[in-house]
Amino acid sequence: MFDALNRRTFACAFAAATLAATWATGAFAQATEVKIAYALARDSHYGAAADGWDKYVTETSQGKFKFTHFPSSAQGGEREVIEGLQLGTGVQAVVVSSGALSNFVPEIGVTDIPFLFRDLTHARAVLDGPIGEGILEKFRDRELIALAWGEQGFRHITNNRQPIEKPEDLAGLKIRTMENPVHIAAFKTAGAAPTPMSWPEVIPALQQGAIDGQENPLSVIVSAKLWEVQKYLTVSGHVYSPAMLIVAPSFWESLSEDEQKIFADGALKGKEAMRAFVDASEKNGVEKAKASGMQVNVLSDEQKAAFQKSIQSAYDGYYKTYTKELVDQIIATK
Ligand code: PAF
Repeated sequence: MFDALNRRTFACAFAAATLAATWATGAFAQATEVKIAYALARDSHYGAAADGWDKYVTETSQGKFKFTHFPSSAQGGEREVIEGLQLGTGVQAVVVSSGALSNFVPEIGVTDIPFLFRDLTHARAVLDGPIGEGILEKFRDRELIALAWGEQGFRHITNNRQPIEKPEDLAGLKIRTMENPVHIAAFKTAGAAPTPMSWPEVIPALQQGAIDGQENPLSVIVSAKLWEVQKYLTVSGHVYSPAMLIVAPSFWESLSEDEQKIFADGALKGKEAMRAFVDASEKNGVEKAKASGMQVNVLSDEQKAAFQKSIQSAYDGYYKTYTKELVDQIIATK
């Protein structure tokens, strides 16, 4: 009897040790695959967010989840990957820009209003506060689980025609915008010829001369080496450009409460990594663009004010859609 007890004790200890070793090495026989898609390369701010999220979830779940990355629009444009999330037919997770999201959750469009945010500190305070939280909540009504705000930085104009110094320089400029009604209205009002298209089409369109320019933050300009296809960079900072870390509702519902918490906390790690990357890009992006051959002009506060004045009538439309009260609340946020 003593022997039988010993054998059972040994068998239990062996099973526990094997399980512990499996958890420790993360060698789950059947790790659940999490496909994650984003528009830029793995070494961009998008990759930083996805890696931060991946690392936290993989470590905290002890290997129960395994991320497979699809960078550089490998799963299609942002609109397509968002549709796939909603339908549960695509990847399980994405990091996407606010630009494409306005077509799914119109409330996010308020964050795209030009010259709304003073600086990154202001933008982060709004998004991390009740206004940002309220917008995240709206995603649930549209079959999307938005777990955290990401970030890209302030958007600037690049083109092949001339330096943009005053609103008149935009006249007739064929500028690619995101498929975003707020941006399209602003550039139309300023006298440009906005040409909305999805990101994977942009570099070929610039190469072929189908468009003169585009606008994106330094994080994107540097990651995508836009100097290979663009001569002039105007540091206009006309729009703050948030991004989001989102999962598919079908995937979310398949998780236990503890696992949902791991994914939500991991998304916050992704957000921090993305913001740290953007901070670095904002510091060294202009120098990098210059060193790579771009001709750079930085708009002064007076010049920016002239651009803002030139799109004044677009604000009437923004107030109608998002309410002046909300815009004022954002401006008043410290
Ligand atoms: O311009 C865009 O479409 C976005 O900023 C990009 C480059 C896809 C990153 O989200």
